[in-house]
Amino acid sequence: MKVLVVGAGIAGLTAALRADALGHEVEVIVKGVLGGGCTAHAQGGIAGEYGPGDSAALHALDTMHAGDGHGDPVAIAALVDGAHAALEALIDAGVPFDRAPDGALARGLEAAHSLPRIAHAGGDATGRAISDALTARLRMSGVRVREHAFAAGLLTRDGRATGIRLLDGTPVAGDAVVLATGGAGQLHPFTTNPAGATGDGIAMALRAGAAVADLEFVQFHPTVLAGSDAFLISEAVRGAGAVLRDADGRRFLLDEHPDGELAPRDVVARAVARRALAQGSPVLLDATALGAARLASRFPTIDAELRRRGFDWSREPVPVSPAAHYLMGGVVTDIDGRTTVPGLWAVGETARTGVHGANRLASNSLLEGAVFGARVAEALQAPAPNADSGAFPSQFVPLSHRLSGTDRDPDVVSDVTHETHRDPGRSADGFSREALQRVMWENVGLLRYDAGLATAVATLSGWQEPSARTAAAQEDANLLVVARAAASAALARTDSLGAHFRQSPALIGAR
Ligand code: SIN
Repeated sequence: MKVLVVGAGIAGLTAALRADALGHEVEVIVKGVLGGGCTAHAQGGIAGEYGPGDSAALHALDTMHAGDGHGDPVAIAALVDGAHAALEALIDAGVPFDRAPDGALARGLEAAHSLPRIAHAGGDATGRAISDALTARLRMSGVRVREHAFAAGLLTRDGRATGIRLLDGTPVAGDAVVLATGGAGQLHPFTTNPAGATGDGIAMALRAGAAVADLEFVQFHPTVLAGSDAFLISEAVRGAGAVLRDADGRRFLLDEHPDGELAPRDVVARAVARRALAQGSPVLLDATALGAARLASRFPTIDAELRRRGFDWSREPVPVSPAAHYLMGGVVTDIDGRTTVPGLWAVGETARTGVHGANRLASNSLLEGAVFGARVAEALQAPAPNADSGAFPSQFVPLSHRLSGTDRDPDVVSDVTHETHRDPGRSADGFSREALQRVMWENVGLLRYDAGLATAVATLSGWQEPSARTAAAQEDANLLVVARAAASAALARTDSLGAHFRQSPALIGAR
């Protein structure tokens, strides 16, 4: 079988390597270069190393709890039950996980985990270690790699995916298309995600009529360096004992949740934003109790970067604020990565497997990529489940009926490219990436209210999707398609749940 894998983070690389090992002809397509995506930025680690008193069942419970009860228990069971094999596979691939003095994997703690169970590498450079190891494996494998190739549309015939169309118009045929393009952090002006996180796979799937879900659930990380380019200070720092203080030096999180700084991430992010708004300045992350030597050895990347920027965090607290970090929703899949479009698969942040519910548990994302990447590869040749198997519950109705004519992919209709070319930048109707990000940040951000959400939906639907030959314009178009779906989903969900939090407009606006 010819398998096209679009994207090369942990999910795409795992799927590609496993499919190659199973004898498929595999081609990986990335719009940039290998190693350039989100995975390499992951600091905290990968959940699933169970020490004394811990178990997959407890991990499942924590995952469901962090997700505010919205997770899918079957998908969560697949995630945690696959953790051991996923970690072993990464070790076999050469990932140098940190070890305790007795030789066992070191286990870190992050928010909403009952026990320390996060395996990490290079202290706070886990994503880089994983990306490097898997990329090296890929280079040695028989997998064909196409870099600087932007997958711009899905090719279909009789409702089945038959390949992709590159931005330059080149068709690439495949029996299976696996979308592993990551999330859409660039929907917001402040994000921990790299510049390429523009929702490409989700937009492609939406245009093809695939079901998406849970796009209203965007996770904001509470602790990026304030006033910076959203430089992330890992939650593992709080897991190691750092605390958050207000301008008076008080640990204000204890007023919000009994777990204080280690409450679920959505709770901490909202508290941080509200406190900053109330006091008119960012809150402070105080890691001074950890001491200079521990900070440097356990968090070498963060330590070096903070010092490079003039902060000695061993002596003084540093200002932090929230930034967009992770999209819980995405292209609806069953637990083997099948989407509602035959021949189209999705994995990693692009997919909505149901494991994250309304708020992802820390360090479950690398785990999801590793576990479900392998599951996709194993399932490629398995017969599709019957329509009545319950794999796709009836609430997952494709959103395609909500797409405007320009949102729909011409490939899906005719397998040909129709483009009217326009350069990115501000369009006649006021659209620009910056304008979109502002609308999303102000109205579909950490704190939401009815009128703001309605304004966002109206503004986004009034903009025409850029149709252009450049990668930047394609990214803009993809962001607009995903933003519309996310804002509509947020407006439609009238109650607060997990990361989707609706409240009074008087409390909005902090950063
Ligand atoms: C972090 O290191 O704080 C991020 C970990 C994650 O998003 O799971």
